[in-house]
Amino acid sequence: MSLLEVNNLTIAFGGLVAVDDLSFTMERGQITSLIGPNGAGKTTVINMLTGFYTPDSGEVKLDGELTKGWDTTQYVRKGFNRTFQNIRLFSNLTVEDNILIGMQHRIPYGSFLSLFPNKVKNTCEREAREEVTEILKKIGLEGHRYDKSTSLPYGMQRKLEIGRALASKPKVLLLDEPAAGMNPKEKVELSEFIKSLLNDVDGILLIEHDMKVIMSISDKIIVLNHGAKIAEGKPEEIQRNPEVIEAYLGRGGKQHVDAGE
Ligand SMILES: Nc1ncnc2c1ncn2[C@@H]1O[C@H](COP(=O)(O)OP(=O)(O)O)[C@@H](O)[C@H]1O
Ligand SMILES: [Mg+2]
Repeated sequence: MSLLEVNNLTIAFGGLVAVDDLSFTMERGQITSLIGPNGAGKTTVINMLTGFYTPDSGEVKLDGELTKGWDTTQYVRKGFNRTFQNIRLFSNLTVEDNILIGMQHRIPYGSFLSLFPNKVKNTCEREAREEVTEILKKIGLEGHRYDKSTSLPYGMQRKLEIGRALASKPKVLLLDEPAAGMNPKEKVELSEFIKSLLNDVDGILLIEHDMKVIMSISDKIIVLNHGAKIAEGKPEEIQRNPEVIEAYLGRGGKQHVDAGE
């Protein structure tokens, strides 16, 4: 059974069909990537998979279970978490607090915790903070635990967002353009980091414009154009697919798809 099964997902906004009869699967232990030009419907797919938008038709199964009817907290509890194309951190809070918030569906925290007897409260808080330490190590932000999140450089903010998503222990991690705004060296590091996250989650759905990142770490690539899937395959298959080059990469696009140069 696939980790995630997407069948005939469709959504329209007014007259615009943003995602059109999209079907694909995600397999365990793999990075599945969604590429396509701006406005192709990539973020809308993430929004539907994570319960932000309700599709007009189609269905999604996580580990064989239909997601239909779940509320937003159920999506997180059952195993979806994401990052945003435009970073969304709690800007007034510290790095640690941003990660603790990511745990809130698993570990009671903050004012809710004050309802518990002291012994329970202290144990929960200690465990939560130990877990924060682990996540900070993973994302390389140990030295920034008590910094305000927005005081961090951009690349670190992106990693913090991933850390916050990891804090809910997702099965499926969805990353919306995580390399945006990074320099080439940061992008190489990020690619390795994303790959390493397969030790923590069952599968990753990656949206990314940078073809080097995409071609170097994807197990499978799905290409969207005007909301519809125009191709699907391994990186090397996508790179030489004439329809993809025509629709997505356009004139001069070939040089973008030549990863590893
Ligand atoms: N909430 C919304 N209301 C109206 N139109 C939307 C909404 N969300 C997305 N769209 C439209 O759907 C299309 C796909 O958008 P999006 O999924 O953000 O594309 P991508 O992430 O591939 O750049 C765009 O034309 C966008 O304007
Ligand atoms: Mg987008």
